Amino acid sequence: METIPSLLQHRLLAAIDDPGDAVLGITQTSDPRFGDYQANAAMVLAKQRKANPRALAQQILDRLQVDDICSAVEIAGAGFLNFRLRSEWVQARVESMRGDERLGVPAPSKPRCLVFDFSSPNVAKPMHVGHIRSTILGDSLARVAEFIGHKVVRDNHIGDWGTQFGMLLLAWKTILIPSALEADPLLEMERMYKDVSARCKEDASVLEAARHELVKLQAGDAENLALWKEMIRLSQSQFDSIYGRLGVRFDVTLGESFYNERLKPVVEELLAKGIARESDGAACVFSDGVEPKEQDPFLIKDKEGWRDNPAMVLKSDGAANYTTTDLATLQYRLETWHPDEIAYVTDGRQQLHFRQMFAVFRRWLPEAAASVKLSHVWFGSILGDDGKPFKTRSGETIRLADLLDEAQERSFAQVSERNPALSVEEQREIARVIGIGAVKYADLLPHRQGDYVFSWDRMLSFQGNTAPYLQNAYVRIRSIFRKLAEAGVEWAGGGQILLEHPAEIALGKRLLEFGEVLPMVLEDHRPNTLANYLYELANTFHSFYEACPVLKSEGAQKASRLELCELSARLLKTGLGLLGIEVPERM
Ligand code: ARG
Repeated sequence: METIPSLLQHRLLAAIDDPGDAVLGITQTSDPRFGDYQANAAMVLAKQRKANPRALAQQILDRLQVDDICSAVEIAGAGFLNFRLRSEWVQARVESMRGDERLGVPAPSKPRCLVFDFSSPNVAKPMHVGHIRSTILGDSLARVAEFIGHKVVRDNHIGDWGTQFGMLLLAWKTILIPSALEADPLLEMERMYKDVSARCKEDASVLEAARHELVKLQAGDAENLALWKEMIRLSQSQFDSIYGRLGVRFDVTLGESFYNERLKPVVEELLAKGIARESDGAACVFSDGVEPKEQDPFLIKDKEGWRDNPAMVLKSDGAANYTTTDLATLQYRLETWHPDEIAYVTDGRQQLHFRQMFAVFRRWLPEAAASVKLSHVWFGSILGDDGKPFKTRSGETIRLADLLDEAQERSFAQVSERNPALSVEEQREIARVIGIGAVKYADLLPHRQGDYVFSWDRMLSFQGNTAPYLQNAYVRIRSIFRKLAEAGVEWAGGGQILLEHPAEIALGKRLLEFGEVLPMVLEDHRPNTLANYLYELANTFHSFYEACPVLKSEGAQKASRLELCELSARLLKTGLGLLGIEVPERM
């Protein structure tokens, strides 16, 4: 289905002489007194043509044909065109939305191939809350892209290579406690790692021994390779258990080590092409002076003025690093999937890394780089009540598994109190859906580039813009149909939508907005747009339900209202599903 702004845009273009490639901003009005949609077309064109905007608006209006869609078009303010939709037209559109499995979301003119690099935790370290935002955001964006009709590749770029393995191998061989490893492999690996890395700082011989283990691993020593693989296996099984709980899946998991063979050629090419050069024994990329200084990621300004801020691609000890690996990864992805876009979902502290890495790539392989949009989808931190990074009371980083356990426990306490009659099994299942949903929603709702304060009370509340509130809105609609069934009425659907009451018309318009909102989510990688839409939808539904009796109405009106209930529930369930959130049937 074509969206309303796009329909109006076509009609407007037909009413304008030589519109050229003018962008006619069509948005929803903020105040219903001004109608439903608003276009600044006349103002945009008047500026280009040095004409009077109100006079131009009048000219457009004289030729504009939107009688079938709008009951009124008015000129307002400096030359805005305000459109009020006809309720019969809204009604007919809601009717076709009902028969549309895409729920009114327009199909892309050309499906794109999108790679999402998200979650990407590190081997031998437990996943912590910092990984939660990447996992939840990336998963939601991938779901939205797929729903819209794009081809999606979900790639988990696990950190499974690097200097930490020297220490881990040394630890494994010297201080491993087998029973601890059996009980909680990641906890034991973390303990060993901390222990050895502390000793490396104090004792040069320990550091040397760790280096030796790393060199052996890199040289392909059979024992070290086997141990390294075991560490990956143990970590992956913990990651998988978390992904299972979160309902997150990947199409490929290609860790950093997958690119080992490709690192040397990358560095060699960068040196040969003069993009990287030797600097203090390392290989680095410096500014090429093409970008304005302010935008150049290889320059930094301090008190003394501008100075170099190079990106290292080979360390002085001859090892490649995170940047080198990302360059090789990018090349591989372009060769393998020919994507139109690659989106990297990580925290905001990696902004400089990605700006530099993208810039190096553009200089290294300009043609390949021109074919792809590279997006760093970054996000802020999760904070505790004290405004500092969210930690346990004793100051430890919070592990994701513990966080999810606590969410389910807290939710279980609520659910069992509210529904004492349900079996414990059922209570547990509902608590799972609510608890996990609450954590995800709290993470997706804030503007992703801001920090947010983690609050159990807020996220688990049934009031306000929360997952339980939206899940409950869904459950309440379902209960209308349950009541119907209990009264012995078999509802088969098929009623005609009739929008008469203002609250019905408002709900109809709200339902239609879904098709406009979803493409926007992908455009700027912001699931919060969808979250806020669903909240508005639940509120609009609520007002409708207050104003328009459903079960107590009769005949065609009842049939129509039941259809509106059904469609609202379907949209809530689909929308929450795109955020990666399930809905219970009762709660
Ligand atoms: N493993 C990294 C970390 O935990 C994130 C990797 C993100 N993806 C990438 N291609 N660099 O910080």
